Amino acid sequence: MDLFEKLSKKVGPLGQYADDAYGYYMFPKLEGEIGPMMNFRGMEMLNWSLNNYLGLANHPEVRQADQEATANFGLAYPMGARMMSGNSTYHEQLDRELAAFEMKEDAVLLNYGYQGMVSTIDALVDRHDVIVYDAESHACIVDGVRLHMGKRFVYEHNDMASLEKQLQRATRITEETGGAILVITEGVFGMTGAQGNLKGIVELKSKYKFRLFVDDAHGFGTLGKTGAGAGEEQGVQDQIDIYFGTFAKSMALIGGFIASNKEVVKFLRYNLRSQIYAKSVPMPIVIGALKRLDLIRKHPEYKERLWTIVNALQKGLREQGFDLGRTSSCVTPVIMHGTVAESTAVVHDLRENYKIFCSVVVYPVIPKGMILLRLIPTAVHNLDQVERTIKAFTEIREKLNAGAYKMDKVIGMAEKI
Ligand SMILES: Cc1ncc(COP(=O)(O)O)c(C=O)c1O
Repeated sequence: MDLFEKLSKKVGPLGQYADDAYGYYMFPKLEGEIGPMMNFRGMEMLNWSLNNYLGLANHPEVRQADQEATANFGLAYPMGARMMSGNSTYHEQLDRELAAFEMKEDAVLLNYGYQGMVSTIDALVDRHDVIVYDAESHACIVDGVRLHMGKRFVYEHNDMASLEKQLQRATRITEETGGAILVITEGVFGMTGAQGNLKGIVELKSKYKFRLFVDDAHGFGTLGKTGAGAGEEQGVQDQIDIYFGTFAKSMALIGGFIASNKEVVKFLRYNLRSQIYAKSVPMPIVIGALKRLDLIRKHPEYKERLWTIVNALQKGLREQGFDLGRTSSCVTPVIMHGTVAESTAVVHDLRENYKIFCSVVVYPVIPKGMILLRLIPTAVHNLDQVERTIKAFTEIREKLNAGAYKMDKVIGMAEKI
């Protein structure tokens, strides 16, 4: 069979909606300045779909730093992989400042968070080692685990009894192979907003020998007294052996980093294939990240403002009887029940008539019959916007329960309806 012919038939779980969804439910274009009010298909919308947690994307000092760094260095500098020719004092300074922010000995920059995670998992373990990871792990963890040549065990999401069972299995194996155990979880699970049970995992360290690797993409900058993340929030930051943060959310940038002790970071510098064989992070990104980190450190009120919005939104929705699942972070999932077709009608109504834009998650990402509308509050939203959203959601739910959105097929692009 011809490969291309095969691909034309095998569209994938999301690709099956491509013709109806492109430009509206998937690949929408949000235009204008990044913030709570943006344009979608010519309409100004209240936007709850960007991980601009601390509101830094359009901060005047950030915009100025980004512009000046681009004017001074261009996007090309430094050329080559960091190990070969792409290093600079700014890169080294950012490594150090990220390490200090995370209360770790050292850190290493990653040109992309996703690839960096995959590559770090790949570098840390060999075929004698066993990986034990949470069942709801992000795709970058799953992909990293796929590269692993040794055994891997998955434990039920945040379930410490299940983790313990898998640690017992892993311990038996590593006693034979002479290998080690790596446990991987997330600080905050991006779809549900549940924090990883880091405290529970750390307690198991007294019974089992393993190292803990935490992907804290959503916790970095949003959780903990200083914003160091889920580990700081749960009082176990020093027990996280390897910490991953991305620049793509709280920092409103691109790239990421790993923070750990000196030896591990040194090992990663010389063994992370995604960094050794790929171009270094461009200077405007590095200087932009230094600026953002400085603002995060100097302005704890940004995080406080974020949490004022988060608390108002989550409290208000809960008071109206909405199910927000297991969230214990800024991520605010609103769970309703209905078909995929109904969920598209709900989103369509929200956008066209209420002028509210949020992401929708459907089967197969979540169980059949569930509709998950995902709201991401930021420090630059205001309480009027929160109120408007709770009112709109309450009306939408009434219509959903009354069967107003029942239809046989996925609702297509706005102009086709
Ligand atoms: C939990 C988690 N890990 C890793 C990533 C990947 O980070 P990046 O966008 O920097 O590649 C994301 C981003 O979506 C994420 O949510």
